[in-house]
Amino acid sequence: MFGGIFRTKDLNAILAAADRPETALRRSLGALNVTLLGIGAIIGAGIFATVGTAAAGDAARLGAGPSLTLSFVITAAVCAFTALCYAEFASMVPISGSAYTYSYATLGELIAWIIGWDLIIEYAIGNVAVAISWANYFRTLLDSVGINFPQWLAVDYRTAAKIPGLLESAPHVYLPFVGSVPIVCNLLAFGIVMAITTILVWGIRESAGFNALMVAVKIVVLAFFVAVAVHFVSPSKMAENWVPFQPNGWTGTLAGAAVVFFAYIGFDAVSTVAEETRNPSRDLPIGIIASLIICTIIYAVVAAVFTGILPYAELKQRLATEQAEPLTMALQHVAPHATWATGIVAFGSVVAHTAVLLVFQLGQPRIFFSMARDGLLPPSFAKVHPRFRTPHVTTIVTGLCVGGLASVASIDEMVDLTNIGTLFAFVLVCIGIPILRFRDPHRRRPFRVPFGPLLLPLLGAASCIGLMYYLPPASWWRFFGWLVLGLTVYTAYGYTRSTIGRSMGRPLYTPLALKVSAVGFLLIAAGMFTIPHNLSPSALLSTATTTALEGHARALGGLITMGAGVVLTLAGLATRPRT
Ligand code: ALA
Repeated sequence: MFGGIFRTKDLNAILAAADRPETALRRSLGALNVTLLGIGAIIGAGIFATVGTAAAGDAARLGAGPSLTLSFVITAAVCAFTALCYAEFASMVPISGSAYTYSYATLGELIAWIIGWDLIIEYAIGNVAVAISWANYFRTLLDSVGINFPQWLAVDYRTAAKIPGLLESAPHVYLPFVGSVPIVCNLLAFGIVMAITTILVWGIRESAGFNALMVAVKIVVLAFFVAVAVHFVSPSKMAENWVPFQPNGWTGTLAGAAVVFFAYIGFDAVSTVAEETRNPSRDLPIGIIASLIICTIIYAVVAAVFTGILPYAELKQRLATEQAEPLTMALQHVAPHATWATGIVAFGSVVAHTAVLLVFQLGQPRIFFSMARDGLLPPSFAKVHPRFRTPHVTTIVTGLCVGGLASVASIDEMVDLTNIGTLFAFVLVCIGIPILRFRDPHRRRPFRVPFGPLLLPLLGAASCIGLMYYLPPASWWRFFGWLVLGLTVYTAYGYTRSTIGRSMGRPLYTPLALKVSAVGFLLIAAGMFTIPHNLSPSALLSTATTTALEGHARALGGLITMGAGVVLTLAGLATRPRT
C-alpha cells in the first residue's frame, strides 16, 4: 500500500518554500494588471465561437434561443460561488500553483497530484482548443484582406477529411505527400503558440503589458458590435425577436448554460500569478471577482444583442460552420453590405483568442513549477531564468506540447475535455474551503467567502457537479483515462521523489512493486482511450459482449486491457511493503 499519500502540506512550509531566492519570481503586478489578466483569460473563443451553438442548439442538445442571456447569468452564478472560494484561497495562500497548492494544504498529496494533473486539461488542453479556433479566425481574417493561406496548413487531418475536396477530389494539387501520406497539420495554431511562448519567456511585465493592450482591443470590438447592432436594429425590433424567450423551455436554457461554461473559464487563472503580484492577498481577490463581474456584464449585453438582431428561427437555419462565427454572421444578417464591420469583429476575435492563449500559456508553466518545487515533477521544471526571472523550462515545454497537439487535434474533443477537467478542479477548490476553515481556523484570511464556510462553497461544488453531469460520455471516458495516466506518473515518479515523502522516509527510487502498479495504471488508461467513447458504461458492456454491434472489437479490446491493468495495479500495491 502507499504510505502518507493523504499527508497535507503545512501552509507555513508552502509559503516559506516560495520565498527561497533561487526560485523567486519577479513581483511586478498590481490589482489592475491582475484584473486585466483575468479579462484576458476569460473573453475569447467562448463568446466569439460558442454562442451560435448555445442559442441554436445542435444534433446533441436543444438551443437556448433568446434565453441565452439567462444561460450566461446562470453560468456566471455557478462560477461566482467558485470564484469566491478561489479568492479566499488565493488571499491566504498566494502561491503560483493555484488549485494544486490549495489541495496540497487541504486534501493531501495524492489529491493535490490529481488536481495538478487535472489542471493540465484546463490550461493546456483548453489552449489547444483556443489555438485551433484562433487559426480558424486568423485564416478568415487573412481571407478578408485577400490573402489565401493554404487550408492544409490550418487544419488537423480528421477535420481536413471532412472538408469536401481537400483530401479526396484533388489531394495531389493541394497537399504535399511523404510517400502516400498527405501532410496536413495546423501550422497556424503551432505558430501562434510558439510566438506567445517567446513573449512569456521574455518577461511577466512585458506579457502583462501585451495582455492589457489586447483586452482593450477586445472590449472595444465587442462594444463596436453592440453599437453597430443597435444602429441597424431598433430596440423595439429586438424586443420582438426576444419572444418566445425560451423556445425549448428550461432544458434549452440549461443546455446553453453548459455550452457557455467554456466562455467563463479563466477567472481562476489569475491565481497562478500570485508570486508575481506585489500585494497578492489584496490584489488577487480583487482580480478574480472584478474580472468575473465585468465579463458577466459584457457577455449578458452581447448575448441580448445577438439574440435580438438574429431571430431564433433564422439562426436555426444557418449552417453549423456559420454558427461557429456567430457574431460576424449576425452582423452580416442585419448589414450585409457592411463588410468592414464584420472585418473589424473578426479582427477583435483574433485578438481576444490571442489574449486567452497568453494567459493560459502563462498559467500552466507556473503550476508545473509549483509541482516541481514539491518534488512531484523533475527539478528542472522549477528552474527560473537567471535574467528574465520567468520559469522558462516549463514555459518552453508547455509551448511545445500545446503547439504540437494543436497542430494535429480537432477542436470539439478538446472543448468538452476542458469543461469537465475545469469543473472537477472547481469542485475540489470549493470542498477545500470548509476543510481548511475547520482544520486551520485561526490562519489569517484577508478575504473570506461570505455567509460562512458551508453555504456558498457547497452550493458551488453541487452546481459544478450538476454541470458535469450533463456532459457527454465521451468527455467522461477521456477525463478518467487522463486521470489514470496521471496515477501512472505519480506511482512511477512523484511518490518517491515528493519532498514530503522523502521527509517521511520513502525510498529514493521507485521499488519494483510500484513500477508494476504504474504499468497497471498505464494499461487501464490505454484501455479507456481504446474503447468507443460515445458509449455509456452499460452500452459499453453490451457492445463488448455482442459481436454484431459497431465498435465491438474496440470495446472488448479496451475492457480486456483495463482488466489486465487492474490486476497488475492491485498485484503491485499488494506486494509493496508499507513505508
Ligand atoms: N474563456 C476562454 C475562452 O472563451 C477559455 O476562450
